[in-house]
Amino acid sequence: MIIYDESAKSFYLEGKNFTYALRVTPDGYLTKDYFGKKIARADLGYYKPEWVKSFNPVIPGSKALFADIMQEYATAFLGDYREPALIPCDGRGVKIADLKYDSFRLSPEKKPVSSGIPTARGGETLEITLRDFDSGLKVILYYTVYPDLGIITRRAETVNGTDGEIKLERALSFTLDLYDSDFELLTLWGHHAAEKTPERIPLHHGRTTVGNVRGTTSANHAAFAALVRPETTEEQGEVYASALLYSGSHYESAEVDEAGRTRLCAGINPESFGWTLSPGESFETPEAAICYTDEGIGGMSRAFHDFFREYVIDPKWAKRRRPVVLNSWEGMHFSFDHDRLFDTIDALRGSGIELFVLDDGWFGARSNDKAGLGDWYVNEEKLPGGLRAISDRCRENGLEFGLWIEPEMVNPDSDLYRAHPDWAITVPGRTPVASRNQLVLDYSRPDVLSWIKETMYRVISEAGVSYIKWDMNRPLTENFSRFLPAGRQGEVQHRFVLGMYELARFLTESFPDILFEGCSGGGGRFDGAMLAFFPQIWTSDNTDADDRMQIQYGTGLVFPLSASSNHVSLSPNIRNGRIIGAQTRTDVAFLGTFGYEFDVRKYPADEYARIAADVEKYKKIAPLVLEGDVYRKGMRPRDNACVISVVSKDKSSAYVTFYQALNPHKTKPRFTVPGLDPDRLYRIEELDLTLPGSVLSQLGLVIPRFRGDFCTASFLLTAV
Ligand code: GLA
Repeated sequence: MIIYDESAKSFYLEGKNFTYALRVTPDGYLTKDYFGKKIARADLGYYKPEWVKSFNPVIPGSKALFADIMQEYATAFLGDYREPALIPCDGRGVKIADLKYDSFRLSPEKKPVSSGIPTARGGETLEITLRDFDSGLKVILYYTVYPDLGIITRRAETVNGTDGEIKLERALSFTLDLYDSDFELLTLWGHHAAEKTPERIPLHHGRTTVGNVRGTTSANHAAFAALVRPETTEEQGEVYASALLYSGSHYESAEVDEAGRTRLCAGINPESFGWTLSPGESFETPEAAICYTDEGIGGMSRAFHDFFREYVIDPKWAKRRRPVVLNSWEGMHFSFDHDRLFDTIDALRGSGIELFVLDDGWFGARSNDKAGLGDWYVNEEKLPGGLRAISDRCRENGLEFGLWIEPEMVNPDSDLYRAHPDWAITVPGRTPVASRNQLVLDYSRPDVLSWIKETMYRVISEAGVSYIKWDMNRPLTENFSRFLPAGRQGEVQHRFVLGMYELARFLTESFPDILFEGCSGGGGRFDGAMLAFFPQIWTSDNTDADDRMQIQYGTGLVFPLSASSNHVSLSPNIRNGRIIGAQTRTDVAFLGTFGYEFDVRKYPADEYARIAADVEKYKKIAPLVLEGDVYRKGMRPRDNACVISVVSKDKSSAYVTFYQALNPHKTKPRFTVPGLDPDRLYRIEELDLTLPGSVLSQLGLVIPRFRGDFCTASFLLTAV
């Protein structure tokens, strides 16, 4: 609910469990009065901490200090010296935006953005217009409240209402001022094959920042940051978190000032950004989903999961069980031909697997990663009869067919690059910087974008597929486009991201029945904006079940299990040689969108034989895994054992996975089950037990000893 109280000049944004209160000060500034656990509506103007007493700039014509305002969208160089959201620069080099309250508008429906950046669906939206009455620059702040969740979304639009050009040097999505600094900062760092490792550190006076300038979300830092109280645990305590719906270079920062206040902000990374606005033009920032909860890290995860499932992922796919795939990559890499593919497809008949994905290597001169990207024609030498023949073979065997593409890239060793070297992001006169032997196509160029749209449309419509895996295997470098004038080169990265969204929107809308899976060397571009196009994303190239417990945990802190694509692969694991049994590998992959990735010729017969039953089991648990609420105990690698409990919304059933890394001497595995209704009785068929939820969550279960390390036990609980 959003309420404006004229007498208090205050806005109250009220969600399920929070109040977000804003007020217009007597000097005309928009200040944040409060954000936190829901409170009664009151005039909060009485609360005047007057933080920063001495030697601080005074608002002209007033006695108040700039530094005392809890600026809703902070600007710089007037006297609030904390991190700004916006730095505009006019033709004289003046970088001031003295933003005062102008007006507001309440709309029952959220307005779509015109830049093409995906935003969450939603209802009641508040637009507050701030204006620099001297220059004419305008900023519109958008707030959408999700009344059933502890979440609001925020974004900002800067309108050049001046009569000259304005260059934006930064335009973050939000600043969020809080009264104290009794927080730790929780972020998710990582690298290829080790994505989304939680890191929790105390704040200090000054700024603590994460982010990257790679031009893509990246495996190195997720576009996420949370302020958590030092005492906050998995199930208790306050959390203020931001998840950005953006897939380019991002930036998250928490600053503690000399008055002990904290300012959290997030948005496009200013280091690799600049944007020129002609008079009348506007710039829209990505949207941030901001969560408040006092139910701990778990409460935050459940709020984000609901948010992405209900308001971001296409409702057609969000809660639908996706086909169980066999992906060709780990099993074959580039070494396949017609016969090997046909043998694989034939071997899958009746296995339980529902869709075969032909990964990298089917096009151009692509027999390794050195050549062929950009030449999106099937390699008829390798695959006589083309993709249709493979697709037909799949259907004859009762399978659907899926295909890998990497549309944003080009190998210098390709016909495309030989014909259009200027289509890649490189600098004339300098040797192009390659990564995985490839360059990035310049999507800020309309000609490149229309070529790739046509090309991908042709590939997808001819291939006979019901699934596409869209990969992106290198970050941006050079950040230079031949298409843009010198003064606009700061726009390259963001224009690239906008071009990518345009292509993603075009293809997903052109092929509404095709399931798109995102990928970027694993989970390198696992962010809220990609989920608007791709209901599932390949979580990591690391399929080792133990490493994966950590990677899936970190991913699941923010993103729903339904979005996390997980595959069972061969043991010993191809990446780290770890030997883990089929049961564990399957149970771990069950905690998301389930599939396989192995060489059928090497897969042990007993493991192959269990696939059909495992797929049947997955079909049974999928509604819980894809729609339920997640409760966790412990995390790998910090803890030897952990529990993941996925509970239906009405608490009538739960699917519980217990994971133990090393097998301790003597003691049997013991664990409690979080998330159940304490007052209901639950039947656990596998253990022939019926127990109250309170007993299961307090005393818990004891199960027989495992034989060996890296073991799981999983149970379906049904309320009786
Ligand atoms: C990336 C992906 C893999 C696979 C390869 C193909 O590494 O993450 O799953 O598709 O590219 O080159």
